[in-house]
Amino acid sequence: MTEHLTVVSHPLVLHKLSLMREESTSTAVFRQLLREISQLLAYEVTRELDMTTKRIKTPIQEMDAPVLAGKKLALISILRAGNGLLDGVHDLIPSARVGFVGLYRDEETLQPVQYYFKVPTELDQRLVIAVDPMLATGNSSVAAIDLLKEAGAKNIRFLCLLAAPEGVARMKEAHPDVPIVTAAVDEKLNDLGYIVPGLGDAGDRMFGTK
Ligand code: URA
Repeated sequence: MTEHLTVVSHPLVLHKLSLMREESTSTAVFRQLLREISQLLAYEVTRELDMTTKRIKTPIQEMDAPVLAGKKLALISILRAGNGLLDGVHDLIPSARVGFVGLYRDEETLQPVQYYFKVPTELDQRLVIAVDPMLATGNSSVAAIDLLKEAGAKNIRFLCLLAAPEGVARMKEAHPDVPIVTAAVDEKLNDLGYIVPGLGDAGDRMFGTK
């Protein structure tokens, strides 16, 4: 993947995203839509996975069939909202290894605070896909990628649903080697660090908290 930012403006993605943005969309429908979109985004973020072939036998004859090469990839959910994206991607790649980075955003400073870190072994040999629906200030995303690099990750991609220009710029500055895949880049951040027009607090919307 050579582009730093890929916006997946597929009609199905955009339609589902618009439904998710609507305030009146229920928690259950929000989660279902996120699951569906995450699979469409996963298609894009895994487009250039390395392939090899495996000799198999169909009911008709033998063939060299294309299969994924290398170590199983690692999906890293940036808690807690990352779990909403994780589920759909994991459904699509069930053999992926899964890790979690727990960061919460201090509401006053907007800075990330770490409370959990558990990731698969041999990160240096895996494609690592970090998932978090909202790339807002970029503070927590940058911190999560810092931690993944400290743990050995070398080939990282960042998958989100919605990004703010500020977050994209911050990631590009801190981690120019980490391509971002998203469904849309919105206008800006507001004073509280929310994406505008956005969809509100993704964690609250998916888990029904406030
Ligand atoms: N996190 C969210 O859940 N929503 C935003 O708009 C920004 C950060």
